[in-house]
Amino acid sequence: VDDAAALFEVTLSDAPLPETDREAALAAPKFGTVFTDHMARVTWTSATGWGNRRVVKYGPLLLDPASAVLHYGQEVFEGLKAYRHADGSIWTFRPEANAVRFQKSARRLALPELPTGDFIGAIAALVRTDVEWVSSGDEASLYLRPFMYASEAFLGVRPTLEAEFLVIASPVGPYFSGGVKPVSIWVAEDYHRAGAGGTGAAKCGGNYAASLLPQMHAYEMGCEQVCFLDASTNTAIEELGGMNVFFVRADGTVETPELSGSILEGVTRSSILQLLTDRGHTIVERRILLTEVQEGLRNGSITEVFACGTAAVVTPIGRLAGEGFDLTIAGGDAGEVTMSVRTELTDIQNGRTPDRHSWLTQL
Ligand code: COI
Repeated sequence: VDDAAALFEVTLSDAPLPETDREAALAAPKFGTVFTDHMARVTWTSATGWGNRRVVKYGPLLLDPASAVLHYGQEVFEGLKAYRHADGSIWTFRPEANAVRFQKSARRLALPELPTGDFIGAIAALVRTDVEWVSSGDEASLYLRPFMYASEAFLGVRPTLEAEFLVIASPVGPYFSGGVKPVSIWVAEDYHRAGAGGTGAAKCGGNYAASLLPQMHAYEMGCEQVCFLDASTNTAIEELGGMNVFFVRADGTVETPELSGSILEGVTRSSILQLLTDRGHTIVERRILLTEVQEGLRNGSITEVFACGTAAVVTPIGRLAGEGFDLTIAGGDAGEVTMSVRTELTDIQNGRTPDRHSWLTQL
């Protein structure tokens, strides 16, 4: 980490946020609304490769109106967090996994692959520069948003010859404004997030753009998140607008949709699968039909449903609704498995329990 971070030239902001304003932002973080004083940046051209590694003042980007990203959406991103432990040290969770997924996403979007060293180096250089922004509060962390976009000014439809990679950071608390309490899910049957051979497994802005209209419909139906079904048969549960989904059965079996090629391979998803395996739960990754879930909720064989993601961590789901059905889960309360796996994961991330899988990297 030290060697990778040392490649970044740091130019400190001439106008960092006053300490009182920063403290106020840290005291009541609303997801993704306030950003730290700096950002990390690496530039790529097809002729020179990756270069000009730097940390600079956070601020607007200069973008040619013909930049390919604005026209054809050639963009990928990641999400991970930095945590302050009780002894003041700062850690991040499984950054190599995010770096590798970022490379896979880039490949799918015909963007250049950023070496893992630069991905982690940029994060470390930024977090070290803005270390005062890493809160020690409960449920608090510094959300890191690495992203890459096609910056070449050219309107022809072909892969860009120029790209920018940046990392920005934002102090956050719980993703949902109500805090850690059960959320409601609306199952979209008229819209899909991704199809076979599409970009569903890549973390690209376009997937999220495609989720917004069905997400608006979910809000109208009184739900916080939308759940997508597979595009080929409109019967199997895939994922939510911005998180993976799990089902806990009365016999302790835990099920989650298998990675079909159109589902995002969540780092939190894989960590939870590991933690539940460690506890002796039977884990099943398979194609899960909406009708099976409806039946399981009606006859009580599914006792808990939860969502997970870097931003959402583990969020209980208290209601699953859609055209012609509206089901309450666990009496609308957070389930026991859900909350205990959430506690175990956040205890590891915050250094309150041993990191037995060596998931943490010190920044
Ligand atoms: C994350 O969980 O980090 C994401 O990127 C998902 C987004 C909905 C915030």
